[in-house]
Parts: sequence; structure tokens; C-alpha cells
Amino acid sequence: MENTRKTAIVTGASQGIGAGLVEAFLKRGYNVVANSRHITKANPFASSANVALVDGDIGDRSTATKIVDTAVSKFGRIDVLINNAGIFIPKAFIEYTAEDFDILVSTTLAGFLYVSQLAVKQMLQQKSGSIVNISTTLVDHPVAGVPVTVQVMTKGSLDAVTRALAIEYASQGIRVNTVALGVIKTPMHKPETYEFLKGLHPVGRMGEIKEVVDAVMFLTDATFTTGEILHVDGGAHAGKW
Ligand SMILES: NC(=O)c1ccc[n+]([C@@H]2O[C@H](COP(=O)([O-])OP(=O)(O)OC[C@H]3O[C@@H](n4cnc5c(N)ncnc54)[C@H](OP(=O)(O)O)[C@@H]3O)[C@@H](O)[C@H]2O)c1
Repeated sequence: MENTRKTAIVTGASQGIGAGLVEAFLKRGYNVVANSRHITKANPFASSANVALVDGDIGDRSTATKIVDTAVSKFGRIDVLINNAGIFIPKAFIEYTAEDFDILVSTTLAGFLYVSQLAVKQMLQQKSGSIVNISTTLVDHPVAGVPVTVQVMTKGSLDAVTRALAIEYASQGIRVNTVALGVIKTPMHKPETYEFLKGLHPVGRMGEIKEVVDAVMFLTDATFTTGEILHVDGGAHAGKW
């Protein structure tokens, strides 16, 4: 068992921001446990002894257990958890179905809760750890014509729990932060929507995966920063433009 090299867990890692985060942690010399429902099928990473893939829905407690067990048994520790798995269901408030609600709650809330609980247990033994959640700037900056109410009901909870968890564990060496994103060029959005999406940012363009990765790495390294919601949104949260 190796336990000097740091270990990161990234959920929702088969594509988009999650895959970018896995590559970045590997480049920085971390071991990485990468999860998504179909990550072994997608298998987007070069084969390496430093990456372990765990299939499974992050809303299921059994997936969280498998991820954390893999990190500890294969790599011996957990230094970083990135709660990145997410889905996007924009629609008018009155059109959200019970199924939409269930999948948003499961992916975003259960998907945060189970793996974070188990990771924090391990981090408490190590007396250190960093958690970064991925949220949206729409939580505190709703935009007319972009209806996402149930989406922000769930993502907004991540912003709230970031502060609560940061306070609960600050004295025990565990930091908890969130990046609140504008619209980022990932497979989540079809290229034909880019022209409209560009306009949702004062800087006049969409964000790139690297710009999110840079912010997550900053929070991972920022040892005096906890309970922070860092907006990575081209200025959208700052006001009206
Ligand atoms: N892109 C944006 O504009 C934007 C804006 C604000 C916030 N965000 C947030 O950023 C995060 C990453 O988004 P992205 O743009 O990179 O999305 P993406 O390209 O659609 O990728 C989403 C990832 O999550 C995985 N996933 C979805 N449901 C899952 C589940 N139940 N359990 C485990 N993995 C699951 C998917 O893989 P499988 O299908 O294999 O499970 C995939 O790897 C999400 O939390 C999203 O809400 C994105």
C-alpha cells in the first residue's frame, strides 16, 4: 500500500469538467479515484497505476462506499474530494416532474452526502483534507429566460452545506469550498446553443474546462480558505450588464 502520494476522488469524471480534473490531479502527481455511472466504458484516461475507475450512480450509498474503499485500499488515503457529478434539467417551474425532482435530489444531494460523509471520516483520521463542490452561479444570480428553479433548489444546498461543513470541521484540518460556475463548454451543452450562452456572461464568452480546473486547484491549495463560494462565471454574479 502506498500512502505518501496524495489521493483525490473526482465524481462525474467520465467527461467534461470531471475528466479535466482527473487529468490535472494526475499531472500534479496525485493518485485519483474517478467515478461515473459508465466510467469504465467511457475510459477516457491513459492506462495508469495511479488512476482507479469506479462505476456507479453517486446517488447510491453503495457507490460512495465503493469509491472510498477503493481510495483507501488501493492508495491508502484521501486528501481531496471533488463533488462534481451533476446533471442539467432546465425547464419552467410548473413543468418539473416528480422524476426530474428525484434525479436532481439523488445526483446532487445524495451524491454529495454519502461520499462526503465517508471521505470526511477518513480525513478526520488523517487530520487534513479538502472538499470542493461544483455549483452554479444561477443559485444567487437567476437570469430571466433561463428557468432552472429545481436545479438551483438542489445546487443551492451545496452552497449552504459548504459553509456549514466548513465551520463544523475547520478546527480538525478539513476545508470545504465550492466553485459556482457560469456556462462552461462541456458536452453538457450543444454547440448550437453557444451563441445564446455566451451572452450570459459579462465577458461575452463561455468558460473553458481549464478555467474551472484552475479554480478548483486554487481552492485545493488555499490552506487559509474554507467556506468560500468562488464564482467562476465571467463576472455574471457581480451585477447586471
Ligand atoms: N457545464 C456547465 O455549464 C456547468 C455550469 C454550472 C455547473 N456545472 C456543474 O459542473 C459539473 C460537471 O458538469 P459538466 O459540464 O462537466 O457535465 P457533463 O459533461 O454532462 O458531465 C457530467 C458527468 O457526470 C457524470 N454523472 C452524471 N450523473 C451521475 C451520477 N448519478 N453518478 C455518477 N456520475 C454521474 C457523467 O457520467 P455518466 O453519464 O457516465 O454517469 C459525466 O461524467 C456538474 O455538477 C454540473 O452541474 C456545469
